[in-house]
Formats: sequence, structure tokens, C-alpha cells
Amino acid sequence: MLSNLKIQRVAESRLGSVDFDRLGFGDVYSDHMFSMRYDDGRWHSPEVLPFGPISLPPASATLHYGQSVFEGLKGFMGVDGVVRVFRPDRNAERLRHSCERMCIPAVDEEVFFRAIDELVRLDHGWIPRKRGQAFYIRPLIVATEPQLEVRPARSYRFLVMTAPVRAYFDTASAAVALSVEERFTRASPGGTGETKTAGNYGASLYPGQSANAAGYAQVLWLDGVEHRYVEEVGAMNIFFRFRDRVVTPALRGTILRGVTRDSVITLLRDRGLEVEEGLVAIDEVIDAIGNGELVEAFGAGTAAIIAPVGKIAYRGKEWVINGNATGELTRELYDTITGIQLGEIEDRHGWNRLIPVEDGEQAQRLRASG
Ligand code: COI
Repeated sequence: MLSNLKIQRVAESRLGSVDFDRLGFGDVYSDHMFSMRYDDGRWHSPEVLPFGPISLPPASATLHYGQSVFEGLKGFMGVDGVVRVFRPDRNAERLRHSCERMCIPAVDEEVFFRAIDELVRLDHGWIPRKRGQAFYIRPLIVATEPQLEVRPARSYRFLVMTAPVRAYFDTASAAVALSVEERFTRASPGGTGETKTAGNYGASLYPGQSANAAGYAQVLWLDGVEHRYVEEVGAMNIFFRFRDRVVTPALRGTILRGVTRDSVITLLRDRGLEVEEGLVAIDEVIDAIGNGELVEAFGAGTAAIIAPVGKIAYRGKEWVINGNATGELTRELYDTITGIQLGEIEDRHGWNRLIPVEDGEQAQRLRASG
């Protein structure tokens, strides 16, 4: 597969201009990107080329009707100089699922992996070294056919870009504050809530902006039918710890099938903790904060990693969880997941895809000393 992959390297790397102490989330991109096109019923023309603007006909279906899907996954430079990409098989599978819902031709897992491997090999110098930072990998498929009928397009472009990033939320300085949204909804049964498609994120901006203006980092979404059950946070799935059991909303088609969510459930069950995936009523959550039963809450997502939730605003009142500090289990999960990603903790479930890079050990030594 991809025997005809063309590789065009940059004439000069931009790496020297990056301040790794001040990384944002997606404000700087590595030197190269992967591209492939779809026409006449097949994917073709795979290439790795310098990262840069792409041209699209103004009538492309993706621009008008939102026919697009994306993914988010992360790579890390391990303590042994081997690059580890965390659970890319799960992202490949979710991308396929999103493609199906959005009538987009799927990309083979093999192609997905090859695109990542090539980008890591070429741009491993861009992988950040600090805990919490990562080499974020953003695959994207957009409909490129210029036509205005509302129907699936006949041509597409698959792109993979990479970016050195910080964690999505700065939880070193504060736990995340959420505002429960009772008027707007993110998804409804039968919609595209579990699909990683642009429209879900576009629709969340207006309520998100109001939450930000009121001092909250994100909206805590409720179900679209009764506005009664907790769903997710948009940039992450949510978990609540009620003393010795952990509860998270079940996957019912309206929330994202988070890869970190799945990893958290597995790690908690490994540890012998009871994890329930079910209906989580917001009233139950608020009552449990009030009577001390709810001792920790945290979000889990690729971008967010494990983010403590310190406050929840609901019906004009602010409820503080665990004194607005990072809980014990939240910290442990963060350390375990980042430890597995960095190769410090045994990867018992075989989650990492290992990509050896030429001068990885040397790069790692230089980083450790720098
Ligand atoms: C991710 O966690 O990778 C996401 O895609 C969430 C994001 C929209 C920031």
C-alpha cells in the first residue's frame, strides 16, 4: 500500500523559530503534512509535502454543507528515544465510523498508520519534551467537489497535519470550571453527536462563548431530549467519582467515543474499581456534591488528557468539588496515562504504536540535558 508515496521535503525547517516553552494548541505546525485525494471512486496521489495552505473550490461541499470529519491523536518522545503514538488503531476505527455517518469514503487503517509514521520520521524533532506537551496529530477529510446540491460529494482530500502542543487546559494553575447548559444542546438521538465532524463543534461555539464570558472554561452538556442527563464537555468526556465508584455517561450515540475515556475505564477496572457507564442525572451530581458523596470529577480527552473539574455552575449557583483541587484518583490517572505514553510505565494493554526514529536517543539526551 502506498508504494507510490511521493515525499517532498521542506527546503528549510521552521523548527528553530518555535518557542517550546510557550506552546499553544494548534498555533504552530510541523514542517510536513500528508495529503491524498479521492476522485472517480478511489483514493490516489498520496504525498508528504511541506505544510502550507491548500486550495479549494469556493463551492466545495465541505465549506457549504459541512461534509468533513477529523481526528485527534498524540505522539510522544519516549524516555528511550522511541516515539510512541497512543492508540492510533482506535482513532482509525473512529474515523471510519465518522466517514460512514457523513457519507465520506473511508481511508484504510494501513494508510492512516503510514501517514503518521512518515510524518513522525520526518518531523520527530518537533516532538516536545515536557510532560503534558505532545506531538498532536490531526487527520482531516474534506469534501472538495464543487457542487451545490445537498448530496455526498464525489471528490475529497485527506490531510494529516501535526503540531507540537501544550495540554488543552492549563490545569497546573487551576481545575476546570464548567457551566451546565440547559437551553442549548450539543446533540440529539439520531444526530451526529458521536461523529467527529465539524458541525458539532461549530454548533457549540455560541453557548461556549457565553460560558466563557461568565468565567467558565467549557459547557457541561445535557441530553437533547429532557435536559436532565449529563453528556460530555465537548473537548472531553466526563467522569464523576462517588466515593468508591466512578460513573461516566454511557455511549448512546450522542457523545464522542473517547479514546482516553476508554483508557480510563480500562485502567480503573484494572485497579479493581467499580466503573458504571450509565445515565447520570445532573440533579444526582449536584446533590452528591452538596452531601459530600461526590469526591472528584474529571474530564478525559486526547487534547485535555485528564483534567480535574473543580467547579460546576448550575441554575445560578456554583458548586465546588474537592475544594477546587486535583483529586487523588485524577492525579493517579494523569500520571499513569502520561507514564504509559512516555514509556515510563509498562504498556500492559499494547496501546502504544512504537515508531523508532533515527536519532531518537540522541534527541532525547539533548532534551534531557537542555
Ligand atoms: C481531541 O481531544 O483531540 C479533540 O479533538 C478535541 C478538540 C476539539 C480540541
